[in-house]
Amino acid sequence: MSARVSGIDAMAFHGTQYYLEMADLAAARGVDPDKYILGLGQRQMAVATPCEDTVTMATVAAHRALERFDIDPGEIGTLIVGTETGVDHSKPVAVYVHDMLGLAPNCRTFETKHACYGAMAGLTSAMDWISAGRARGRKALIVASDIARYGLNTAGEPTQGAGAVAMVVSEKPRLLELDPTSFGDYTRQVMDFWRPLYSKYAFADGHYSIDCYLDAFSGAWRDACENAGSWDPLRLDRLAACFYHVPFTKMARKAHHRHCETEWGKKVEREDTEQVAAIRESYDQQVAPWLELNSVVGNIYTGSLFLALMDYLRKAQPAGGERVSVFSYGSGCGAAFGTGVVTPEAAGLAERLDPATHLEQRRKLDMDRYEELIRLSETADHNEAPYPDPADWQLDRGLYFVGTRDHVRQYAGSAADTP
Ligand code: HMG
Repeated sequence: MSARVSGIDAMAFHGTQYYLEMADLAAARGVDPDKYILGLGQRQMAVATPCEDTVTMATVAAHRALERFDIDPGEIGTLIVGTETGVDHSKPVAVYVHDMLGLAPNCRTFETKHACYGAMAGLTSAMDWISAGRARGRKALIVASDIARYGLNTAGEPTQGAGAVAMVVSEKPRLLELDPTSFGDYTRQVMDFWRPLYSKYAFADGHYSIDCYLDAFSGAWRDACENAGSWDPLRLDRLAACFYHVPFTKMARKAHHRHCETEWGKKVEREDTEQVAAIRESYDQQVAPWLELNSVVGNIYTGSLFLALMDYLRKAQPAGGERVSVFSYGSGCGAAFGTGVVTPEAAGLAERLDPATHLEQRRKLDMDRYEELIRLSETADHNEAPYPDPADWQLDRGLYFVGTRDHVRQYAGSAADTP
């Protein structure tokens, strides 16, 4: 029996209602703003109020994907939420989302965790679910939702962010057909980034984490070539665009450099001017144009790779048939590299993907309010703590977290009303 092919049929993003300018953060930390803006490649950073959590962001993004792409909730047969910032040690974020979207009781629902790789694990599971013939004509909803927090005055602080990307996977995808014969995997135990059960903040061995990421790229790419039978179908000059996990946009440049080196089987040093220029040229065409959303949202962990893909689909006006690559890295570490082919319908759906209105409505935080927000978020979900009030943050409509009573998380409002 030949395997059923599947791919991404719908996508939507939902971030936070507030953001911080990187220049303001740099000024407050006594750092040259160019370090954050040019050195890390970030302009702004989404910051979640105590009333926005992984559940609210995931639900709003998922609701938006279904609504904008005219998908009935009854068509969803699998729901997977990839997150590393879940709200409970036991209960999955996915089951809250299932309830708030009104999905069917026979919809298989679970959460995946492997740092930033969690949503890619969900996406490839959905491909397998369809390929195995278990979908019975239904679609899978995969949501990547996270709040990246390293804490005030840490090296990781400028690489925070928050947001969710929802994707519907189906047998007749309208955006991107995924090619299972081009996917490769990589796993290795490393302590590059982790968040112990007792901590709201992530710990990172920052420079080491960059090396782990790049080595994982080479490992996953080699496995993908083995799966494809040769490196030829995955060749860079056959790819219209390359999407990488984006903790900060400079990381995508480093990843692309390693992509070229791995394909060429050669390390490229600064003095190899011809190769450096070739990498620069391909980065400017295949990677840089699609990092605009990441540069104003920051690291959204599981969703970062897919935010770059959304940026491409909303802006590139592809004719259809373009092959693109996706690389997901999750610290700890796990990774996957694969490719997909853009559908002829994708360009006509670009407007439905565009989160411009949502981003324009965001409000700027000053440093005092930002620091207050971070402090309040530390205890906002403690049982019977002062309940977070959307009115304190001028959040007058939408779906929000409003505190924990009798050890049960409380939500108010609706995804449909969220700006
Ligand atoms: P740092 O040590 O503060 O920064 O931490 P730096 O000194 O390495 O500088 C950063 C860049 O700015 C460098 O560029 C500097 O040269 C440049 P590079 O050499 O790398 O190309 N720079 C300047 N440029 C222009 N003008 C200036 C200037 N000054 C310096 N004046 C670090 C940076 C990323 C390590 C830190 O923010 C951190 O620890 N972040 C968290 C960890 C992280 O994001 N790791 C990424 C790879 S692992 C990953 O992606 C997984 C992750 O998403 C988690 C998951 O999987 O769940 C994190």
